[in-house]
Amino acid sequence: MFIIKKERNGKDYYYLRESIREDGKVKAKTIAYLGKTKKEAEKKAKEFKQKREEGNMEEKTEKKTIENKEITIDELANFCKRKGFVYPTAEIYGGLAGFWDFGPIGSELKKNIKDNWWKYHVHARDDIVGIDGAIITNPKVWETSGHVENFTDVAVVCKKCKNKFKVDESELKDAVCDKCGGKLESKGKFVPMFTTQVGPIEEDSSMAYLRPETAQLIFTDFKLIQDNARLKLPFGIAQIGKSFRNEIAPRNFLFRSREFEQMEIEYFINPDKKEDCPKDAQIDNFKLNIYSAEMQEKNQESEKMTIKKALSKKIIALPWHAYWLKTELSWFYELGANPENFRIRQHTKNEKSHYSTDTWDIEYKFPIGWKELQGIADRGTYDLNAHQEKSKKSMEIMDDASGKKILPMVVAEPSLGVERAFMVFMFDAYSTNEKEEVILKLNPKIAPIKAAIFPLVKKDKKLVEIAKDIYKNLRKEWNVLYDQSGSIGRRYARNDEIGTPFCITIDENSIKNKDATIRNRDNGEQKRIKISEIKDTLRKLISGEIEFKNIKN
Ligand code: GAP
Repeated sequence: MFIIKKERNGKDYYYLRESIREDGKVKAKTIAYLGKTKKEAEKKAKEFKQKREEGNMEEKTEKKTIENKEITIDELANFCKRKGFVYPTAEIYGGLAGFWDFGPIGSELKKNIKDNWWKYHVHARDDIVGIDGAIITNPKVWETSGHVENFTDVAVVCKKCKNKFKVDESELKDAVCDKCGGKLESKGKFVPMFTTQVGPIEEDSSMAYLRPETAQLIFTDFKLIQDNARLKLPFGIAQIGKSFRNEIAPRNFLFRSREFEQMEIEYFINPDKKEDCPKDAQIDNFKLNIYSAEMQEKNQESEKMTIKKALSKKIIALPWHAYWLKTELSWFYELGANPENFRIRQHTKNEKSHYSTDTWDIEYKFPIGWKELQGIADRGTYDLNAHQEKSKKSMEIMDDASGKKILPMVVAEPSLGVERAFMVFMFDAYSTNEKEEVILKLNPKIAPIKAAIFPLVKKDKKLVEIAKDIYKNLRKEWNVLYDQSGSIGRRYARNDEIGTPFCITIDENSIKNKDATIRNRDNGEQKRIKISEIKDTLRKLISGEIEFKNIKN
């Protein structure tokens, strides 16, 4: 065993190494990290050798310290490009502002976020069904919804630094440049909906919009969906899909893009039963970090309080609205997001959308400050009423309890951008160990690759055969990876960086004992399990039914 010093970013790091024979060659292998000074390294090396001699310390059970690391949005974007999460679209031609391509790892993460959202909001509930509406629909939809008239912004350019951005019309006279504080020149109102022509022959074609939200198709198809799925109030209709907005200033990586995906629900209730949020919803003791319109007007700080208190002080008007805030925050927390980075902010009078009577945003503490992650608006009967009047088709449904026909109201419209959720999970997972190596602590449910399987030595045919058999078996159920190249340490590090929660290694002992090593990404801990039990153990670990520490050796 010998100590070596490595320099990284101007800092010294000491490691303990030993020579081993692998694939017929003698190689030096790092067996322990010894700290940042020579004195500390010598002390730790001595302790390590002593413990090894006593036989009570195996390198494989050494625990690691892994901590969440704060990074900027640009650092996240660079990491995402390097590791195959997200690229600027068609970068070989210079890209296109506001459009992004998801790579092999990123497309898996995005898909897992959407699948988990669907499972939680649709499959796990009796009262919500899903649809998949068209991206291009009849333009009357957008005239009736108010988007053509009201979904407008004013484009402005800073007279001093030429920064371009948009402001709400109501804020135009007081607004200044958000970069340098300079005066603004108005470039006029614009509708941020992309248009296209439907039909290939110009004189026969008609203009249409790319949808700016998924929600409207839920309203136009409302009667069919309610009838087909035999829905009784209260009920919800969910949808995931692409939306497009011709943003004047797409910025901050995925945060504001021109093409993005939304996960939306319209939750309908009887307007005469606004207070009837189910008692078994158990919302009372859930804690929220609240920033109400009044707190903002009075320049106060946000305040943590229970839903019970927020309702009794009438800070949140309706129990249903509180219920949806809890439901949405819980989804993030259950998938590993850090509750400390979330707050809920009420829209002030000036910023509410044309359709909403009350809106709360779930905000996340991004590196650029607290920003909207998800909107939860009370849309009332605005949309069904508007489509009923314009189409002359009744949107009323029978309320069994009263025996009357009623027009349901949307008590809450949880509307979340997939890409913003993607960034939240990445920021909260991004961690480093004492060697400054990235460990992406994504919840196993959303991790792009659930497990990586390695033979310890690639030239040992028997080990390769066993590892490949395990890989083939596991991939029937999950996205897993087989890797035999490089040292075992490199293979672990590669997988830690892309968030693979578990690595399974086949070594010489696996042949006689029919077992393998399973390693936990989050602390480097390793256990031996029988090969026949790998699949079942993995299933329980991914679902959260068991924790790694509960696996019996
Ligand atoms: N149907 C309601 C609606 O669309 P919104 O507040 O305009 O409401 C909802 O959008 C969510 O969609 C936002 O909270 C955000 O997560 C996401 N979103 C909106 N515009 C976006 C953009 N340009 N880029 C990325 N995500 C966006």
